[in-house]
Amino acid sequence: MQFLKDIQEELAGKTVLLRTDLNAESAEDSFKIEKSIGTLRFLLERGAKVVVMSHRGRPTEDQVSPRRPENIPEEFSLRFVLPFLEEHLKVVPKFLPDFDFGAHKQSVAAVPAGSLFVLENVRLHSGENSGDLEYAKQMASLGDIYVNDAFGSWHPGASVTELPKLLPAYAGLLMEAELEHLNHVMDGAPTPRIVILGGGKAADKFSVIKNLYDRTDAFLIGGILANTFLKARGMDVGSSVIDEEIVEQVNSFSSDAKIILPIDFIKDAEGKILDIGPESRKLFSEHVAVSKTVIWNGPLGYFEDPAFRAGSERIAKVIADTSNCAVVGGGETTQLILEMGMSNAFTWLSTGGGAMLAFLAGKRLAGLEALGYYE
Ligand code: 3PG
Repeated sequence: MQFLKDIQEELAGKTVLLRTDLNAESAEDSFKIEKSIGTLRFLLERGAKVVVMSHRGRPTEDQVSPRRPENIPEEFSLRFVLPFLEEHLKVVPKFLPDFDFGAHKQSVAAVPAGSLFVLENVRLHSGENSGDLEYAKQMASLGDIYVNDAFGSWHPGASVTELPKLLPAYAGLLMEAELEHLNHVMDGAPTPRIVILGGGKAADKFSVIKNLYDRTDAFLIGGILANTFLKARGMDVGSSVIDEEIVEQVNSFSSDAKIILPIDFIKDAEGKILDIGPESRKLFSEHVAVSKTVIWNGPLGYFEDPAFRAGSERIAKVIADTSNCAVVGGGETTQLILEMGMSNAFTWLSTGGGAMLAFLAGKRLAGLEALGYYE
């Protein structure tokens, strides 16, 4: 795999196609956009022209088109990001609102070094999800170099897997930082190592347990995965959400001392488990206090409701009070930490949700594969 930082002398006058992850609900939901700024600034300051490419949301088949998507619902357009980029980069970005690549090529040729373009959501073209090589060739015609900074965009797609076949391809600064932090926290960082898994996507989180089992001293479990473990251990979890499909697999870990489950709960009026209780907070905090490294993905309760937030908040505070190497990911968990104003107390907040889980589970990510990471 080649890295952008190693070609910084060669960027002046080049046009760089930067695949980044600007998939956010709004400009206020700015965490991933802010994380993208570093690579953008690096490129512009070294005299590159930059064409930003990203997806936003998941448009359906009837909403995509090979040329000019009509009546694009606001939620899918990347226009929203222009004011944010202008404010942070002090450059006025030009928007490329369709897939008329012939015209875009002329626009890019006409501007000076240090100019910035943003292409409309790459998934509004019918060729993105199918990984269409022709579409990728049209995108490639705009630039000289391809940089992938979109760690979170781990699904295959023309802009992720095909473009690097057509242009010299590099991992961006954010991608590099994600890999460094995740590899360090999985393998290099001091032990005892604990992994905290909550929220939804129970099956994906169970895959993380299987992959990191030998490298981890304790798994602190909340959310749907905890309910599923508790059910497998014979507890009546009432109407609490579980993942039926993994109950049997989870069962084989049912008496495992490394799996630390909540011992008391906060429930709603129907008896549904929605947070860990005070004794569990204490138990989990004790594990955090004696650990040196923490990996955390998924809140311990339904934190959007203040009534079910205490477990996640307590754990965030306990981690922040230690000098642990702590890496956190998943949209909800990072949101919680940002809302608490505690991001500086953590070693790294990952821009990956599903991507971080897949990486921790030892799966091959399509974007990394295309950059030659696994060779
Ligand atoms: C995310 O928000 O998790 C990433 O941008 C990936 O989005 P996707 O799951 O729609 O590919």
